[in-house]
This record gives sequence, C-alpha cells and structure tokens, in this order.
Amino acid sequence: VSAVGLGCWALGGEHWGDDVDPEEGKAAVRAALEAGVTLFDTAPLYGAGRADRLLREALGPHLREVVVATKVGARMEGAHAISDLSPAHVRADVEASLRRLGVERLDLLQAHWPCERGTPLADTMEALVRLREEGKVRHLGLCNHGPEAIEAWADALAVAQAPLSLIRREGLSDVVPAARRGGVGVLAYEPLARGLLSGKFRALPRFPESDMRRRDPRFWASRFGQLAPSVGRLRAMAARVGVPPAALAVAWVASRPGVTAALVGAKRPAQVRENVQASRLLARPDAATLLDAVGTRF
Ligand SMILES: NC(=O)c1ccc[n+]([C@@H]2O[C@H](COP(=O)([O-])OP(=O)(O)OC[C@H]3O[C@@H](n4cnc5c(N)ncnc54)[C@H](OP(=O)(O)O)[C@@H]3O)[C@@H](O)[C@H]2O)c1
Repeated sequence: VSAVGLGCWALGGEHWGDDVDPEEGKAAVRAALEAGVTLFDTAPLYGAGRADRLLREALGPHLREVVVATKVGARMEGAHAISDLSPAHVRADVEASLRRLGVERLDLLQAHWPCERGTPLADTMEALVRLREEGKVRHLGLCNHGPEAIEAWADALAVAQAPLSLIRREGLSDVVPAARRGGVGVLAYEPLARGLLSGKFRALPRFPESDMRRRDPRFWASRFGQLAPSVGRLRAMAARVGVPPAALAVAWVASRPGVTAALVGAKRPAQVRENVQASRLLARPDAATLLDAVGTRF
C-alpha cells in the first residue's frame, strides 16, 4: 500500500462539524486515487455507513484495485459508541460491511476497539479467523489494542492500528516495537492531530457543537497555547523544505521505522493534495535525516 493512506472518518459527516460536503468528499477520494493513494481506511461507525457508501461511489471500479481497510465492533448504543466484539456481532457487522461496500471479501478487517461487552479477545480472534477462512476477509488487524495483545496474536495479524503524530508519540515505545517483533504492519492514525499539525489554526479555533474537537483538550486554550511554538517551528521547517506543514507532519509519521502507512483524514481535494506531498519527501535520499531532525526540533 502507499505510505500515505486516506482516512475516511470525516467523510461520514458526523463529529467533524457542519462543513462536510459529500461531493467534496468524493472529490477528495478521487484526488487521493489520482495521487497514487492505494489505502483507504473506513469503518461502519463513520457516519453509520455513510463513509463506506461514499467511498464505494467515489472509487467505482477502482475499489477492487486498492486496499479498503475497514473495522468491526464499534456501534452506537443510544448516543454513545460502544465496542461489541462478540462473535455474533462481528459476523453481522462484517456482512453489513460487505453489502455496503459491494464486495465479496473485505481486504482488511480490524477490530475497532477492545471489547466493552466482556468478550475475551481469544473468542473474537477465533470468529475473525473463521471469517477469513470462509473467504469473507483477506487480512486481519487490531486497532487501539496494547502491545501484549498484538504480540500474542501476531501470527494472525497483518496490521496494528494506533495513534501517532508529532504530539502523540507513545506508540513508538509500545505498539510499534511490539508489531515489529511480531512481523505485523502498523497503520498510524491521526497524524495531523485532527488538523492541528496542518498549521492552519493561527489562533484558538471555535468549533461548532457538531465538531468533537470542541471537546478535545488539544484545542482548549492552555494546551493549544503550549503547542503553538512547536506548530510555529513546524510551519517554518515546512517553508524551508518547500512543502505544506501537513505534508511534513504526515511524512514524519510515515517515516518512523515499523510504520507501514500514515492514515490521514481530509474533507476536500485541496487537503488531500497537500497531504500526499508527504510521499515526495519520503522519496528523498536524505528523508531519514531530514525527518528525524523535524521530530527533534518540533
Ligand atoms: N482506529 C481508530 O480508532 C481510529 C481513530 C481515529 C482515526 N482513525 C483513522 O485515521 C484517519 C485519520 O485520523 P483523523 O481523520 O481522525 O485525524 P487527522 O488525519 O489527524 O486529521 C484530519 C482532519 O484534519 C483536517 N485536515 C486534513 N488535511 C488538512 C490540510 N492539508 N490542511 C488543513 N487541514 C487539514 C481536516 O479537518 P478540518 O478541515 O475540519 O480541519 C481533516 O478531517 C481517520 O480518518 C480514520 O480513518 C482511526
């Protein structure tokens, strides 16, 4: 897969404010495809299936040429999302994803979060492996699981998915080393810290009620203020290298040893076109030195 993948959470149209336009979203997917992106990450939870439908419509026949990573387990219960990884829910969720995406087999199926309904991971993994044996799923992954789970199930897993960005680096000392030891790939999510590392918020942003960033402490005055000098340095480093700050932030994530791809979200094609410039940086002969320096100076 490409080192930059498109994250489709915002494209579901929920939790990301009032400016998510499905036509712009489809154009964003097509822009990613045109730029050589071959990895698209979705989930049943993203807009209750809307992200899947948008992806299917925007990719058309290309859906079978790329890798569509999806998830299983998280569902709404009243106003709250919960994780149910019971074998019965796993199977029902997978059948619904197959129908929405219009495929006979899912390329990559990842448990979205650890189960909150008491199902032991061993029972979930057994159900997932059975679905793979039946040919409904090609590869398996775990999101938001700790290093112990990843190492314990490494033989069955293609990937582990975890958060990773210049301001959230814990993954480099737990999930990434565990995945490397087990020969498991890593998909790093939220590489822009929900847009913060694009450098576009010059002042404290005010999000509408419909945008979860309103409740995210990184966008509250004190943490935002603490991060501002680092984001300023990122902007300056990006200007020197000649790429948008978002591309530099994404390239730093994608270049960490053990990371297979950075999953970066976008609402419109212009954002995608900025973010995929990370690939250009990753191809430079001095990429490792350059990006290590970005991580140190940030
Ligand atoms: N497994 C999990 O539990 C899990 C959890 C989180 C995410 N993920 C996956 O990882 C993907 C990426 O994470 P994320 O979408 O949460 O966060 P992200 O990639 O850090 O940020 C994406 C957001 O930043 C803004 N943005 C993107 N490119 C930009 C640019 N060039 N300039 C300015 N703003 C830009 C857009 O929002 P605005 O335009 O509104 O600012 C966009 O929706 C998700 O879409 C999802 O596929 C998985």
